[in-house]
This record gives sequence, C-alpha cells and structure tokens, in this order.
Amino acid sequence: MNFWLLFVHLLGAAIWTGGHLVLALGVLPLALRRRDPAIVQAFEERYEPVGLVALAAQLLTGLELTRGYFPGFHGLTNFDNPIAVAALTKLGLLLLTVVLALDARLRIIPKLGRHNLNALALHIIPVTLLSVALAYVGLRFRFGGLTLP
Ligand code: HEM
Repeated sequence: MNFWLLFVHLLGAAIWTGGHLVLALGVLPLALRRRDPAIVQAFEERYEPVGLVALAAQLLTGLELTRGYFPGFHGLTNFDNPIAVAALTKLGLLLLTVVLALDARLRIIPKLGRHNLNALALHIIPVTLLSVALAYVGLRFRFGGLTLP
C-alpha cells in the first residue's frame, strides 16, 4: 500500500468528516435557533471550495487504494469477500453523498431563506452521518472488511 496515497486519503477524510461535524453540531443548531440562514451560508462559502477538493481527493485516492486490493478492479464484485463489500459500500455511500450534496447545492442553496432552512438541515444531517459512515467503513478494511448480514 502506498503511504502517501493513504496519507492524502486521511487528510481528505479529516477535512470532509470533520468539516461536516462542525457544520452539523456547531453551525447548524445556531442557525436553526435564530432562524438565520446567513449563519450556514457564511460557513458554506468558506468551507465549500476546501470540502469539494477533499471529496474529489477521496474519490481518486479511494479508487487507487481499492486498486491496491483488487488490481485492475478484478474481484471487486465478489460479495463473499468482506474487503470487496467494504469497497463497494464506500462507493455507494459516496454516490448517496454526491446526490444529496448536488440537490442541496442546485435546488436549496440558490433560494436559501428562512422558509427552506429546515430542508437544508435535512440534507446536512444525512451527509454528516454518511461522512461518519465513510470513515467507519474505511477503518473496517484493517479489521477484515464488512460482511453482508
Ligand atoms: C468522504 C469520503 C471518504 C472518507 C471520509 C474516507 C475515510 C477513510 C478512512 C478514515 C479510512 C481508514 C484509513 C486507515 O485505516 O488508516 C479509509 C480507508 C480506505 N478507504 Fe476511504 N474514505 C472515503 C472515500 C472512499 C472512497 C470513495 C473509496 C473507494 C472505494 C475509499 C476506499 C478506501 C480504502 C480501499 C481504504 C483502505 C485503505 C487501507 O488499506 O488501509 N474511500 N477511508
């Protein structure tokens, strides 16, 4: 396994998961209490460029790390292999994240106001839970992967 690849993957994880935990636990509750979307907007504006670079880095380094386990991605769809299940779960979680983030970015944020602050919260909370799940499943690789129920 490539040390620097994993190092970048861990930095990206810190930025993506850490940033979303700060948003969901620190910034969002204040914005909801005050019914003030500007509080979330100010955070999003500063965080978004950094967060998007981190997410892109996660996809690229994640695929490369996966190739370390499955050269040429051969065997990746073997559901009897817990490492393959973990890798596919991560791709699925990432896909869900991208769908929710795009919906928030394209549909909610352009018209953000008091009226749709709750809708934004209903995107921020699942994306944050997904980010924690991505870190959890990532760590599972060291512990044998994931088994299907
Ligand atoms: C925001 C998205 C992601 C986060 C927060 C994240 C987080 C993590 C974390 C915390 C680890 C544990 C590293 C360790 O044990 O030292 C990890 C490992 C790993 N991740 Fe991700 N990851 C993300 C996206 C992805 C994606 C899209 C893939 C592609 C399938 C992927 C593939 C892997 C692999 C293969 C490992 C195991 C590396 C090893 O051999 O230890 N990750 N990830």
